[in-house]
Amino acid sequence: MDKFVVRGGNPLLGTIKVSGAKNSALPCMAAAILTEDEVILENIPQVRDIETERKLLTSMGAEVELGYGRAQHRTHIKCAILSDPVAKYEIVKTMRASSLVLGPLIARTGIARVAMPGGCAIGGRPIDLHIKGLEAMGATIVYDHGYLEARADRLKGAHIVFDKITVTGTEDLLMAATLAEGESVFENCAREPEVTDLAALLTAMGAKIEGAGTSTIRIQGVSKLHGARHRINPDRIEAGTFLIAGAITGGDLNVDSCEPKHLGALIAKLEECGVRLDVGQDNIRVRSGGSMGGELKAANISTEEYPGFPTDMQAQFMALATQTEGTTTVTENIFENRFMHVQELIRMGANITISGRTATVRGKSPLQSAAVMCSDLRASASLVLAALVADGETILDRVYHLDRGYEHFEEKLRGVGAQIRRMGDVFGKK
Ligand code: UD1
Repeated sequence: MDKFVVRGGNPLLGTIKVSGAKNSALPCMAAAILTEDEVILENIPQVRDIETERKLLTSMGAEVELGYGRAQHRTHIKCAILSDPVAKYEIVKTMRASSLVLGPLIARTGIARVAMPGGCAIGGRPIDLHIKGLEAMGATIVYDHGYLEARADRLKGAHIVFDKITVTGTEDLLMAATLAEGESVFENCAREPEVTDLAALLTAMGAKIEGAGTSTIRIQGVSKLHGARHRINPDRIEAGTFLIAGAITGGDLNVDSCEPKHLGALIAKLEECGVRLDVGQDNIRVRSGGSMGGELKAANISTEEYPGFPTDMQAQFMALATQTEGTTTVTENIFENRFMHVQELIRMGANITISGRTATVRGKSPLQSAAVMCSDLRASASLVLAALVADGETILDRVYHLDRGYEHFEEKLRGVGAQIRRMGDVFGKK
């Protein structure tokens, strides 16, 4: 298993480029199932979850050519024949977003067998709302040896009010509704930019969708979709992670190729902390410390669905909170059990207590290097951020979590002055 070795103390200086959004790319790749034509996706990030989705689609009979190294990271997907509409457990267990193929598979082939996702480090994460929605659209679903098998001759449009806001649930049912008979109206939908990105691709494929990005989405089902070309949005979570990297190290960093419009809640909080941000069209310059003067101040956060403060930025913001003056409360409202980075931050010298859904961070604490363990994707990023300001050399184990969602993370950080290197397992095992 690879490790990162990080030596803290350097301010990050220069320009760092943001890649395409993993969480947009995953549903967009699944959307290719809806047509027998070729779908071309640009700006696909080179991360492990994308490789997992490639495996998932090819195991069903799709042709997928990931175009890394080619201009625009252009990826071609053709699902002319889906000979085996099954999402196997071996793949689903490593990536819960595999459940995104459920809706498009039933819509296209009339049958889907998808392994039930198992437990997850950051909470139960059920898919009951995907299932309930598909049943409302006329699918029959049975459970069979750890798999759920869904069938429908042709899905029918339905009026669905989501009990709870779910991002992939909204995306899954949106894809299913594009090929359903008649109109679907979904209420209490997720408004995340990733839903809007998917809707833009589906529209380019011939779907009739209104209201994506708002809480009510209307879809007029069509009988067939066709191929399309689409460029994936920049990754707002990667961009946010770099903004915090610039702020925590007292650097002067230009976070380039991002979409500032998607970062409103984080920008507001960083400004409240006293971080200087210059927001451009597709870049944000972040400065703090040094020439900016003054200490960073604490600012409380509470995670919410978009456009609120993203749960996927909570762990990284907590690393920053260890370095601000005063007390920060961090309330996690989306997932239970998403404080696994806390114990590791405490081992590095942070002063954090947890009570229920709220963590209280008392700053400012000098952080010390330690051997720490990554527990999930965003927790890993939080530990790297802490290590960038820790005294000495921190060793982060299990960085495969980070590789699921950050493209060339250590290389990008090294390019702006971080001392970070990857160390392979001495026995060469992954
Ligand atoms: C997506 C993102 C993830 C992000 C999360 C919240 C992808 C691939 N992943 O995950 O990075 O952290 O949104 O912004 O886009 N829930 C149910 N039943 C369901 C579905 C969800 O109870 O059928 C609950 C979940 O347990 C959770 C909440 O709803 O408490 C939100 O989950 P959801 O928005 O579905 O997260 P994901 O789509 O899995």
